[in-house]
Formats: sequence, C-alpha cells, structure tokens
Amino acid sequence: MSTPIEDAVKPYDGPRLYGMVDDMITPGALDLDCDERLWVPQGEHSPGVEFRPLMFQPGEGKFVNLLRGRRQGVVSRHRHVGAVQAFTLRGRWHYLEYDWWSEEGSFAFDPPPGDVHTLEVPSDCQEMITLFITTGAYIYVDADFGMLGIEDVFSKIDKTREHYRDVGLDVALVDDLIR
Ligand SMILES: [Fe+2]
Repeated sequence: MSTPIEDAVKPYDGPRLYGMVDDMITPGALDLDCDERLWVPQGEHSPGVEFRPLMFQPGEGKFVNLLRGRRQGVVSRHRHVGAVQAFTLRGRWHYLEYDWWSEEGSFAFDPPPGDVHTLEVPSDCQEMITLFITTGAYIYVDADFGMLGIEDVFSKIDKTREHYRDVGLDVALVDDLIR
C-alpha cells in the first residue's frame, strides 16, 4: 500500500482531455550566443535587426521571440494591435514617445493596442536583445502615420520557414515551435 507522499509524486495516468496538444520545451531558449542560423532577418522595415522565434501560437495570434539589434538607431516605428510584454536581456532601448529606458533586466508592458512606438537602440549600445511576447500584429508606419507593412504570427512563420530553408536548417523545426 502506497503512502500519501508516494501518491503525491505519481504522474496522472487518466484519459487525456479533449483537444490537448503536446507541451513544448526549447532547451537553451535564452542562449543569446546560439547558432547564428537561428536568427531570422526581421525584414525591410527593420534593417540590421533579427529575431529568433521561440513559439508561434496561430490560434491566439501570438508569437514569442528574441529580437536582436546590432545596428544603432531606429529599429522600427509601429502601431500595436494587441498587448506586448518585453524582457530586455542585453543592451538597452527606448521608445522616442516616452521618457523611460528598458535596460538589461527590465520588464516592459506596452499599453493597450493602438499606441504608436518608435523603438530606438542608442548609439552607445553595440547589441540589444529583448524577449518579446506579442499578441496580434505590428503595423509599421512612417512619421506621418502612413502604413508601411504589417507583421503577425503568420508572417513570422513564413519568414522563419524561408530563412531556415535558405541557411540549410530543417524547416520541420519551425513546426516544432507551433502550438
Ligand atoms: Fe511597441
């Protein structure tokens, strides 16, 4: 007969609930100096900026990635269509519209959707890496609020697949990041 303590450490072995999918685990997710091929160019609206995807969740319109900027100056000007959380892991950045800075170790929560941000990496910062948890989309805009492009979980998946193919990584790895 098992003791209460032994019962407590028993795994659940009952039926799986409807709609359950496998958990996802990415070892070394915060290895900032990982295989260079894992960094995907952000694209024409953010030259010199790359992202490393950690999770895509199309059903929620959500994506999680490390964003890396090695070029000082404006990374992008964008409007949000959903909430964004950001943990700065290396370097620092700010929005030109606000007077706060997100330094290494800072957590930022972007205000409700609709706000326009111009993200800048300062001239004394050689490399900025921030973990962004994004729901919805970024709409890239110019200084007059004209729309330049849009980025969401679907464009992120497409860009990652294309990049992995270009650099010789297994494209099936992208599917491992989708939940
Ligand atoms: Fe923003």
